[in-house]
Amino acid sequence: MVQMEDVRTKYGLPSTDEMLARLDAGETLPAPFYYAPEIHRLEQEKIFAKSWQYACHESAVAKPGDYAVTRAGSLPIIVTHGKDGQLRGFVNVCRHRLHAIAEENGNKPLLQCPYHGWTYGLDGQLKTAPRSQREPNFDCSTISLEPVSVERWDQWVFVNPDPAAAPLSSVTAGIQERAAEINTDLREYEFQVRYEYDMECNWKLWAENAVECYHCPTLHNTSFGRTYHTNPDDYAIDSDANTIWHQGPIKWLPSGVDPAGLKGFRFAFTFPSSFFALDDYVGFVGSVQPVSPEKCWAFVDMYAKPGADPVVVKEWLDMWDRTLIEDKRATDIQQIGYNSGRVPAGRLLLDSESPLQSFMRTAVTALSS
Ligand code: FES
Ligand SMILES: [Fe+2]
Repeated sequence: MVQMEDVRTKYGLPSTDEMLARLDAGETLPAPFYYAPEIHRLEQEKIFAKSWQYACHESAVAKPGDYAVTRAGSLPIIVTHGKDGQLRGFVNVCRHRLHAIAEENGNKPLLQCPYHGWTYGLDGQLKTAPRSQREPNFDCSTISLEPVSVERWDQWVFVNPDPAAAPLSSVTAGIQERAAEINTDLREYEFQVRYEYDMECNWKLWAENAVECYHCPTLHNTSFGRTYHTNPDDYAIDSDANTIWHQGPIKWLPSGVDPAGLKGFRFAFTFPSSFFALDDYVGFVGSVQPVSPEKCWAFVDMYAKPGADPVVVKEWLDMWDRTLIEDKRATDIQQIGYNSGRVPAGRLLLDSESPLQSFMRTAVTALSS
């Protein structure tokens, strides 16, 4: 098993206390945090294997027989809605020879692995395996899918790979009140489309991009930066160890709309990888997951407010897609910079980028525990 101490020696990293002190002084995490395979493995073990992560909106598993596939870090997961009404989660890996049980969402009374046909109940129990009656000691009742934890926060379904995880409320209790206050609630909103992005960068670069808006006036000057006021006097950001908040007014308005009646843009990011956003027209919820040290994947479920002008909704959805593609391009290029080996760490502007400090502090603390 990899230890932080071994990584420190191999890559010449300072002690955790020294890294935290450098973060306080405005440095980023050292460059090897963004490419070292050992850091990737440590993150899987110390962060993603024991964190609550957004899986899907409740509508994806609304009825008995519904199932939804997702990932928590690199772990493939399937969430099922049983005949008893229970949501359950399992590692999406067949107990026969480890093929995925399902590759996309669906609705079935039983889950059949497409490789050799082993068939499981929605409770994860193996029911039948073709030709198993020809085996003298094969007992289906002793085999079931590996469980993970599943819980809801309002209409959002979360998973935690740890089957004995602390309740989701241990993470959300402190933020639910704040979320209600800023109305990060998509309950009335209607699902429109899922956007997915494959990045050629470490997941932290993409997450760090998501939690600061210093880049919005430049990188997103014709997308997000055109749609919302992003200068520091209008755009509020706030953070603690697990959550980062953004709030800003809408700038670009459809003709005839009075801005005084709008609530503006609200965004929340929960460590390590889940995010929620909402404005008066659309909202979204998604997650970013590491694939390898230098690759990650993000999905974003887009919702529209019922009754919103379809022309405005389309404009907003396109704006978000353009914004996220701009982010992907930037973070892919950052990866090349981090790989260069010539710049040991970046330098933050703490007035504008304080959420990065909080995110990096939480990450380095988790890896050193
Ligand atoms: S791997 Fe699933 S049935 Fe063979
Ligand atoms: Fe961005």
